[in-house]
Amino acid sequence: MESDDQLTTLKEWTLVAKLAHRHKRMLKLTDSVCRLGNLRSLSNHCKSLSGLSAARRGLIQRKMSENGVTVRRSKVLTIDTMNATVKKVEYAVRGPIVQRAWQIEKELKEGAKKPFTEVIKANIGDAHAMGQQPITFFRQVLALCSYPELLNNNNFPEDAKSRARRILQGCGGKSIGAYSASQGIECIRQDVARYIERRDGGVPCDPDNVYLSTGASDGIVTMLKLLVAGEGRSRTGIMISIPQYPLYSAALAELDAVQVNYYLNEEKCWSLDISELQRSLEAARKHCNPRALCIINPGNPTGQVQSRQCIEDVIRFAAKERLFLMADEVYQDNVYADGCQFHSFKKVLFEMGPEYSDTVELASFHSTSKCYMGECGFRGGYMEVINMDPEVKAQLTKLVSVRLCPPVPGQALMDLVVNPPQPGEPSHGTFMKERNAVLSALAEKAKLTEQILNTVPGITCNPVQGAMYSFPASRCQSAPSRRLRRKGRLLTCCTA
Ligand SMILES: Cc1ncc(COP(=O)(O)O)c(C=O)c1O
Repeated sequence: MESDDQLTTLKEWTLVAKLAHRHKRMLKLTDSVCRLGNLRSLSNHCKSLSGLSAARRGLIQRKMSENGVTVRRSKVLTIDTMNATVKKVEYAVRGPIVQRAWQIEKELKEGAKKPFTEVIKANIGDAHAMGQQPITFFRQVLALCSYPELLNNNNFPEDAKSRARRILQGCGGKSIGAYSASQGIECIRQDVARYIERRDGGVPCDPDNVYLSTGASDGIVTMLKLLVAGEGRSRTGIMISIPQYPLYSAALAELDAVQVNYYLNEEKCWSLDISELQRSLEAARKHCNPRALCIINPGNPTGQVQSRQCIEDVIRFAAKERLFLMADEVYQDNVYADGCQFHSFKKVLFEMGPEYSDTVELASFHSTSKCYMGECGFRGGYMEVINMDPEVKAQLTKLVSVRLCPPVPGQALMDLVVNPPQPGEPSHGTFMKERNAVLSALAEKAKLTEQILNTVPGITCNPVQGAMYSFPASRCQSAPSRRLRRKGRLLTCCTA
């Protein structure tokens, strides 16, 4: 028999599936994200689902034969002896609702009769998994890098070949199978620096401040590692936006840092109020030492694009309160709404003059996973650090070197993102056509998502200005909805 919890989850998924069936076009957009009001109850559910086997695991003894004598040993590593901070980690993106979705999908495949025929998983921004096609030029160069014999093949355009030769030239033994420098291949870091300069209207970028990473996640966690210190009331607090992207809460739990929540303003299209930052900071200072402020712009899961004024205000706030800024800008090409524009924190910082540009410490992050690329599986990314203390920077370089290097194919892909085909090159036309097609499809889907969600009784949704998600509010008054809300498990969103 299914538990009450499982039944309510099933009902919610049935609702999603019905909606999906009805609005298939909308939900196929890219992907959707499930939101859960209360992560703690989610984790409790998770624990209860795995509880039985966990308890058993601790007790199970293994038989070992030594010199013919059978000895029984308890496990060295049990749920009670393992790292306690890992147990505190919660990650809804791959949590129990997703597991339930997999289960329902399996049941459907096995012929179970349900009031729907398909489950569209809405838990993660994984564009290719939802059918988005890769950019031809990127895959051509990556194919050439992986199998250089293809450089003799006439089917590949010359610009793809010359790009592949350049990347291979930067690799040890001219192979992407070799380790690279820990900070990333030098010519790729140079390309990233030139890209940042072009993007930011000429603000200089030193390739030495660029660290290639294993997706943006790796860069973010590495920075958090550097920031977290202290004990008790002096333990580092990290300010993160709520609604949040769960990488942050998960990483903070693992590092045993203090998560300091600041709330985005739903009434004002998920904008960021400085008064809320101030409130959150002052409350946190009573029990920890807040040292960094994380901003996601364009926002996941809320889809807002911060105005230039807002970014300036945030930088002023960080300077006044002596906070390290972390700007998660992985959606920098995903801006759809009229009147909205992406402004990088770095550019705004430098436009504010030396009082800020010479002092405010900033790390910004980008990725191959989002924008028009959607190449999540290659795990490409970079971070740029500004005004970092040279001794800390040396520690950062040491820290990244422990893991040798980010995946070289991911580095190669990052290079292509920051250095795509140029006008006049053979691949430029196709590249632009494919890139623009993805971005305009995302823009159309963003609008459609907002419009359709707003037609559902009890659901309201802000305009999706950017990124790949919407975060609707559910005010459904049905009995199951009320019960779920009480349990903190109401599904309140899906999206782009
Ligand atoms: C805001 C934000 N930051 C970071 C990431 C992680 O990106 P990556 O795949 O580059 O690690 C994501 C992924 O969805 C994201 O939405």
